[in-house]
Amino acid sequence: MKILVTGGTGYIGSHTAVELQEKGYEVIIVDNLSNSSIEVLDNIALITGKRPLFEQFDLTDREHTAIFFQKHSDIDAIIHFAAFKAVGESVEKPLMYYRNNLVSLMNILQGMIDNRIRNIVFSSSCTVYGQPDKLPVSENSPIKKAWSPYGNTKQMSEEIIQFTADVNDIQAILLRYFNPIGAHESALIGELPIGVPNCLMPYITQTAIGIREYLRVWGDDYPTPDGTAIRDYIHVVDLAKAHVIAIERMIEQKGKEKVEVFNLGTGNGFSVMEVIQSFERSTGVKLNYQIMGRRSGDVVEVWSDTEFANRELGWKAEKTLDEMTLSAWKWEETLNQKVKSEKRKAK
Ligand code: UD1
Repeated sequence: MKILVTGGTGYIGSHTAVELQEKGYEVIIVDNLSNSSIEVLDNIALITGKRPLFEQFDLTDREHTAIFFQKHSDIDAIIHFAAFKAVGESVEKPLMYYRNNLVSLMNILQGMIDNRIRNIVFSSSCTVYGQPDKLPVSENSPIKKAWSPYGNTKQMSEEIIQFTADVNDIQAILLRYFNPIGAHESALIGELPIGVPNCLMPYITQTAIGIREYLRVWGDDYPTPDGTAIRDYIHVVDLAKAHVIAIERMIEQKGKEKVEVFNLGTGNGFSVMEVIQSFERSTGVKLNYQIMGRRSGDVVEVWSDTEFANRELGWKAEKTLDEMTLSAWKWEETLNQKVKSEKRKAK
């Protein structure tokens, strides 16, 4: 079975490529390397003993994408991760986000139709729910008006897939991720933010290692027990495993509808302060932080109703918050060792 993983050198994509290869799938990665590094392929090979096939190009290039699909019409399923994902940047540059995230998806769907590729798993986000009225948030919760172009591209992508699947021989699974953190236990792959991270976990580990002076905690006056905002953090390897199950479900024709939607979270909400405490507990490292005002666009609290994914996929997130924060730290330490040894070599 040959699986195309777009964005496969990225954070979630690389962990998924590993899990797929461990299960015996042949993986072909397409990535334009706009936000990831080619070395990730070597590290996937170190973990699994096999280097995935790789092609570097931009999926917004319609002609190139069409030629790629003609060449690889034996692909059995696609997992589409490749997308821009920085909420703040999307507000600054909306058209860049719409063009990149939507055009690439449409080119992929066209390639599927032209080459009779039936199965696609799409990387969506709990951001489609906005601030839900009821918690935990289930797959049937209403989709709220998007707070950012990024979130809007996820909503629109889901709709594009739904309408395209309705009139073509295509089935899809839309996976709505909560907050993925952590890294592979080998510490050979992990999150690699370019520039200053926006997300909490890489900001914590970069602060603890000394790259950043202190973490800014965005708001402690929320209506939550400790005043800081609450999210459902999920270990990236648990998340990656759910993708393999989604692929199996489609290939084995176990789906109940042409387009299925699953939330991928743990069902537990943790506050920013609880994540900091977990980091300090699991690593023994003290973290500098300062309380700041709220970050605009942040929701107060969101966590997942996992019942449907647990039952239908037979999947459950297993790792604890301490395992997540510790694995993120081990990855940061590995990156730090690498930087140090490169500096030594340069001298
Ligand atoms: C949001 C989206 C998520 C999307 C992701 C893309 C929601 C609910 N979630 O994640 O779907 O995929 O963006 O990047 O809309 N924090 C700090 N200091 C920091 C960084 C973060 O206090 O330096 C706090 C935030 O205010 C928030 C929590 O940590 O309360 C998590 O933030 P982050 O990691 O950026 O993820 P979300 O904004 O939840």
